Amino acid sequence: MNVLAVYSIKGGVGKTSSAVNLAHTAARNGFRTLVWDLDPQGASSYYFRIKPKIKGGGKDLIAGKRDLDGLIKGTDFENLDLLPADFSFRNLDLVLDAKKKPTRQLKKLLKPLAEEYDFIFLDCPPNISLLSEAVFEAADILLSPIIPTTLSLRTLEQLEQFIEDNELNQLVLIPFFSMVDRRKKMHRDIMDSLVASHAGILTAAIPYASDIERMGLERMPLGGYIKKSLSTVAYDALWLEILARINQTHSA
Ligand SMILES: Nc1ncnc2c1ncn2[C@@H]1O[C@H](COP(=O)(O)OP(=O)(O)O)[C@@H](O)[C@H]1O
Ligand SMILES: [Mg+2]
Repeated sequence: MNVLAVYSIKGGVGKTSSAVNLAHTAARNGFRTLVWDLDPQGASSYYFRIKPKIKGGGKDLIAGKRDLDGLIKGTDFENLDLLPADFSFRNLDLVLDAKKKPTRQLKKLLKPLAEEYDFIFLDCPPNISLLSEAVFEAADILLSPIIPTTLSLRTLEQLEQFIEDNELNQLVLIPFFSMVDRRKKMHRDIMDSLVASHAGILTAAIPYASDIERMGLERMPLGGYIKKSLSTVAYDALWLEILARINQTHSA
């Protein structure tokens, strides 16, 4: 089992779209895949047409009163399951804070799923909170979408600093470009400088594209309504690069 958290301090950068589309790509390639919608807004649940509600809410979940298995729903896609969001997740920080070891809780919850899934994608809410810290402990990899703007650069640097200050040495941060408009000189310039300064950033980039934006209308992963486009090719390339990075990490 590999836990991939799709995470950024910022909102609206393509976390949910990436989590849903990468999970769909992984599942299509035969990997047993789960998306856990941790955002009370429930966007990834919405894309899978599944009600953002779980019995007992975040409180019972963190208290260990429900096993995740019983809350997981199948999606319309083979090998692809969803653990839906719940509006009560807006209070997850408080619920976690009441526990003895708040940041260990997600990892503990995911442990029993190790045999069932090859990949678990955590669709994270924006922010850097106690829940984020629990995500950092649970995840093997932090996939962070970066829109090529100056503000995104700043948040990436904040995240890197946080990882360093908190000695999260086991966590592999993999940034990649999201919502890229190559017609914009600023996007191209920022990408060039970021590639030069950050060796780890992925080469595959997700374009700003109307077929991706349409997910909200279609309510399914991109691959569910588009066979092949520049966008599907970009997600496939991104997935292959992530797989290669995972294999590299395992053999290191
Ligand atoms: N590559 C893209 N091209 C065009 N629109 C996109 C792209 N990625 C995401 N969007 C749109 O931008 C908005 C925010 O994306 P989302 O994936 O929900 O970001 P986050 O989860 O980081 O808040 C959504 O309306 C989504 O449809
Ligand atoms: Mg989201």
